Amino acid sequence: MIVEPKVREFICTTAHPQGCKENVREQIAYVKEQGITGGPKKVLVIGASTGYGLASRITSAFGCHAATLGIMFEKPSNGKRTATPGWYNTAAFEEEAAKEGVYAKSINGDAFSKEVKEQAISIIKEDLGKVDMVIYSLAAPRRTDAQGKMWVSTLKTTDKPFTEKSLDLRTNTIVTKTVEPAEEGELEGTVKVMGGEDWMDWIDALKAADVLEKDAVTVAYSYIGPELTYPIYYDGTIGQAKRHLTKTAGEINEKYEDVKAYISVNKALVTQASAAIPIVPLYFAILYKVMKEQGTHEGCIQQIARLFKDKLLVEQVPADEKYQIRIDDWELDDKVQNQVMECWKKVTTENVEEVSDIDGYWEDFYHMFGFHFDNIDYTEDTEVQVEIPSLKADAQ
Ligand code: NAI
Repeated sequence: MIVEPKVREFICTTAHPQGCKENVREQIAYVKEQGITGGPKKVLVIGASTGYGLASRITSAFGCHAATLGIMFEKPSNGKRTATPGWYNTAAFEEEAAKEGVYAKSINGDAFSKEVKEQAISIIKEDLGKVDMVIYSLAAPRRTDAQGKMWVSTLKTTDKPFTEKSLDLRTNTIVTKTVEPAEEGELEGTVKVMGGEDWMDWIDALKAADVLEKDAVTVAYSYIGPELTYPIYYDGTIGQAKRHLTKTAGEINEKYEDVKAYISVNKALVTQASAAIPIVPLYFAILYKVMKEQGTHEGCIQQIARLFKDKLLVEQVPADEKYQIRIDDWELDDKVQNQVMECWKKVTTENVEEVSDIDGYWEDFYHMFGFHFDNIDYTEDTEVQVEIPSLKADAQ
């Protein structure tokens, strides 16, 4: 099939298998250059197929030579439609891990469910014995809890409507957008989906099954961002969920003496999850421009390689009293934020290309789906039905 991008606002409904492979290969090459030494040896990554979770899996496997068990919720191709990018990324990741001789298995299923937790535990017991690191990198729109109740996550404010400039992704124009406050139950739903309850469930389940090494480390990912986006992010429904996630780190540390739980506060980056947040894409495009000019721009893989190398794999993990590790430090630097605010004030449809890195935004967006890589011939026929080696082996 000739695979072309089909973009609908903040989502692309196709993915290119060869391009996704290239994306994974580039991340692997970057990690290998970083000279990471030591680190975890057996890592469970929950949300391992795209964005920050994929970068964490790559850093573990190709930086630390760790065995990884990755959990994701992706769709294979049915021959007519392409698979989702996370499917192709995982196939490529496993292929590269096999070449390197590092163990990699994946589970495609609902990480919130008891069944997937049990499946993960049984694979760990059988193949790895125990794990010494658990990365929690889920970004999900909904969750069915243990009682069978479905909760939905929303991206709204928690008090009054918030009106700001926004980038209309269909037309690349600057518009004004209003985000409405959450209605009854929506805040609770967002906290249920994106808060820490399921992270705790995972740690409880892994502990009960005795599959965590002594002093195992667990890290969940969060975002704070600048005051500009507080109404929609940090003080919005998602921010409340992140506060709950942060609180959960403390609760895990209190509950289990031999588990170290941290929150890594990461930089704003274009991923499938973040592209859907209103107003935020314009902030991304301006932030990219400023950080690229100042030489501090990073992608997911640069962020996570730095998290491992400079923060997690050092004698004293530099965490604050809430167990937060800040790798959003460069994003929130005054020099960056002051310039972002100047650009924000002056950005219009007429000057958006000059004031923001809108091209860089779209480049990252297309790359996520395996498009716009110079060394891929997109006019060539490509096989869209790609197998993930460990899932194929399990099915036999
Ligand atoms: P993403 O959309 O790229 O990745 C989400 C991952 O979760 C994928 O592997 C997906 O397959 C998996 N997933 C979703 N629902 C699942 C389910 N029910 N069962 C199993 N797997 C499931 O998202 P991204 O941006 O990498 O987000 C990961 C974490 O990082 C989130 O907690 C997010 O809030 C946080 N973060 C993201 C930032 C950003 O700007 N992208 C900034 C700071 C933190």
